[in-house]
Amino acid sequence: MQTMIGVIGGSGVYEIAGLQDAQWQDVETPWGAPSDQILTGTLDGVKMAFLPRHGRGHVHSPTAVPYRANIDALKRLGVTDVVAVSACGSFREEYAPGDFVIIDQYIDRTFARDKSFFGTGCVAHVALAHPICARLAQHCLAAAREIGVTVHEGGTYLTMEGPQFSTLAESKLYRDVWGCDVIGMTGMPEAKLAREAELCYASIAMVTDYDSWHPDHDAVDVAQVIATAGRNAENARALIARLPALLGGARDLCEKGCDTALTGAIMTAPAK
Ligand code: ADE
Repeated sequence: MQTMIGVIGGSGVYEIAGLQDAQWQDVETPWGAPSDQILTGTLDGVKMAFLPRHGRGHVHSPTAVPYRANIDALKRLGVTDVVAVSACGSFREEYAPGDFVIIDQYIDRTFARDKSFFGTGCVAHVALAHPICARLAQHCLAAAREIGVTVHEGGTYLTMEGPQFSTLAESKLYRDVWGCDVIGMTGMPEAKLAREAELCYASIAMVTDYDSWHPDHDAVDVAQVIATAGRNAENARALIARLPALLGGARDLCEKGCDTALTGAIMTAPAK
């Protein structure tokens, strides 16, 4: 099949550079409008689609992001591989602001979002033990290494509802008891929905702060997140620019089974 890379940009990442035939497109979905128009084009001969998760101008809060419309719109455009970029706080001394983390697991603490394409009429239960496409994650890791950013392979991402940052007690719970590595507000339900849409999905979390557990750092605030996210965005753009060469213009069905996640997952009997 033809590769099409869909990039979902988070705080600080609102475009991709160097796209040929670049065009912002409206995409309609049964789940409503996505966060913004989607920028499509070609990079190194590979089709790309870029969607700013919070909209240009950062107008959707993490709770208000239309996650289902975003994933569905990318699917409708022909995207095969979704690379999600997002800012995060760190629970590890060694995951410092400016570092990138290639996520491999999630804990979902969100509670005010639509999390499935399936409900009344058609019920499906996809497997989610491994929510990230390990093949796509390896490409993201290789791209990060090529551009020379400090990158950590693997990390558990706690997704909180927000929009407020964590209390100290929550931060310590997630870090000391639950063993999470980073925290953000958008990883879920995006990864779940990508799996239901049979899309490969990988996540690059860019550390902006130490959340509130760290004794030597002040409580996290937006000024700090924005300042570091701006610096991280340059690395994110460089990383994204490496992806077409690493993924190539064509691929077989994903060996991890992402493209066939719904096979055997639907419980509802076919309509007669
Ligand atoms: N995004 C960036 N930093 C964060 C933090 N500390 N908590 C939640 N989301 C974040």
